[in-house]
Amino acid sequence: MPTLRWLTRDQDVQAAQKVPYKLLEEVPELSYGDRTIGNMLIQGDNLEALKALLPYYAGQVKCIYIDPPYNTRSAFEHYDDNLEHSNWLAMMWPRLELLRDLLSEDGSIWVNIEDREGHYLKVLLDEIFGRRNFLQGIVWNRKASPANDAKYFSNDHDYIHVFAKNMDAVSLNKLEREERHNKHYTNPDNDSRGPWNSITFTGNKNRKERPNLYYSVTNPNTREEIFPPENLTWRYGKDKAQELLRGGYFYWGKTGTSKSPRIKQFLKDAKPVIPRSVWGHDEAGHTQMAMLEQRAFGGQPFGTPKPERLIERILHIATKPGELVLDSFLGSGTTAAVALKMGRRCIGIEMGDHAVTHCAPRLQKVTDGEQGGISKAQDWQGGAGFRFYRLGPNVFDETGQIQPEILFPTLAVHIWFSETGVPFSGDGASPYLGAHDGAGLALLYNGILGDKSVSGGNVLTRKSLRTVREAAGSFDGPLTIYGERTVLSETSLSEERVTFKQTPYDVRARK
Ligand SMILES: C[S@@+](CC[C@H](N)C(=O)[O-])C[C@H]1O[C@@H](n2cnc3c(N)ncnc32)[C@H](O)[C@@H]1O
Repeated sequence: MPTLRWLTRDQDVQAAQKVPYKLLEEVPELSYGDRTIGNMLIQGDNLEALKALLPYYAGQVKCIYIDPPYNTRSAFEHYDDNLEHSNWLAMMWPRLELLRDLLSEDGSIWVNIEDREGHYLKVLLDEIFGRRNFLQGIVWNRKASPANDAKYFSNDHDYIHVFAKNMDAVSLNKLEREERHNKHYTNPDNDSRGPWNSITFTGNKNRKERPNLYYSVTNPNTREEIFPPENLTWRYGKDKAQELLRGGYFYWGKTGTSKSPRIKQFLKDAKPVIPRSVWGHDEAGHTQMAMLEQRAFGGQPFGTPKPERLIERILHIATKPGELVLDSFLGSGTTAAVALKMGRRCIGIEMGDHAVTHCAPRLQKVTDGEQGGISKAQDWQGGAGFRFYRLGPNVFDETGQIQPEILFPTLAVHIWFSETGVPFSGDGASPYLGAHDGAGLALLYNGILGDKSVSGGNVLTRKSLRTVREAAGSFDGPLTIYGERTVLSETSLSEERVTFKQTPYDVRARK
C-alpha cells in the first residue's frame, strides 16, 4: 500500500510505544457534580494522557471526535497553530495510533480538518485505520457567510474524515426525522392513515426490455383499464400492484381519474433519515453560531469553537445514551458539553490553560442546567458531573522498574493490561485479579495480604497461594502470579499449575 513519507517518519511510527505510562491524578477542587459517572476532564498533552488511559479504556470508546489544530499558520489567543508540515504529521501519527487502540470494535472516529492538512491526514488515517475502514468524508459548510475579503476563494468548508475501527462490526444510527423532513407530507383526501406523500407508479424501463412490467391496472373509481404511457412500464410487477391496490395505496389525482396513478407513502411508515455527506447550517450549525453559543451561556471567548449542533449530529449517528465519547483536542469543551447533555459518558483532554479557564467552568454550567446550544433540543435540565485530572508521575522508571509510590490497584491495572491486552474491570482489592482466556492472574504486592514478611503478603508461599486460590473462588485453572519472590520449588509450582513472575523485574509496561 502506498504510504506517506516525511523526515522523521521512522521515529514517529515508534513514538506511541515509547511514551511512558503516567498516573492520572484527580484535582478534587476542579471536579464537579456527580463524580461517579466516569466523565473525565484531563489537562495535559494528549500523547501522555491517551497512553495513561490505555490500561483502563483500551477498546472501550464508542466514538472519538477530534478537532486538532489545522496548521493554518495562525497564533490563536489560547494556542498556536503553526507547525512545520512534517512536525504536524509527526504530532498526529502517534496520537492517532493511541486513539485507534482506545476505540471499541464497533466504534468510529471522526476527524475534523480543512484543506491544508486534510488530504495528508486522510493518508495517515488510511494507514493507521486501514483503507477498508474508511466510512465517509463529510463536507461541513462551517461559514455563515462568505469571506469577501479573501484573495481568491472564501474557504467555507471543513472535512470530517470518518473511519470505523472495524468495518464489519461498526454500528451507526440513522437520524431521527425532523419537521423539515416531514413538511412534504400532507393529507388532501383525509386518509384515515394520516399525512402522506407520493411517488409515481410509472417506471422508467422500456416496455420491450421489461415486458413483465407492462400490464394494465384498473382504476376502481372509473373501472377503466390503464396502461403505462408511451413505451414505458409500471414501477412494480403485477402482484405488488394488486397488493397496493387492495391496500388503498393508489392515488388517482384530485378527481380520481388520473391516467398517471401515484403510490401513497405514509408519514407513519417513514423511516429514520440516512445522513448525507454534505452538512449545511440547518443540520450542523456554523462557526458564528458557536461563538454566539459561548456568549449566550456567559462562556469565555475562545478562537475556534465548534457549534454544539455539529457534535450533536455526530453523537446521534455514532453513539447511544450511556456510551463513551472521547475528544483529545477539547478546546473550549464543546464535545464534553454536548456529550453530557445527550446522556453519553465523556473523556476530554486539553493541554492549554483553557482546560481550567474554559472547559471546567463550561461543564460546571452544563451540570447546573445551562440552557444554551442544544439544551432545549435535548430537554437538558442539568445533572451529571465530572472529575478533573492532571498527569502525575510515571508508573515505571526509565529502566522499567515500578516507582515506589505506585499502589496495588494501579500496578494491578498495568499487570492485567500487559498480560491480557484488555482493560482491568476489578476494584484492585483482592490479590486475585481475574481470569482471561482460561488463565488466572494474581498479584502479591504492596502488602495486599496485609503482611510484607517472608511468610506473608508479597511472597508466594503455600499459605499465600492458598489465599489466592480462595480469592479465585470457583476458578481452579492455571495461574500466573506476580510477587517479590517465591519459596515454592519449580516442581511444586508445576504441580500447582502456577507460573511465577517476579516484581519488579518481570513487570513489563506494555509497549
Ligand atoms: C481547534 S481547537 C479545538 C476546538 C474544539 N473543538 C471546540 O469546540 O472548542 C484545538 C485544541 O487542541 C489543543 N491541543 C493542541 N495540541 C494538543 C495536545 N498535544 N494535547 C492536548 N491538546 C492539544 C489546543 O490547545 C486547542 O485547544
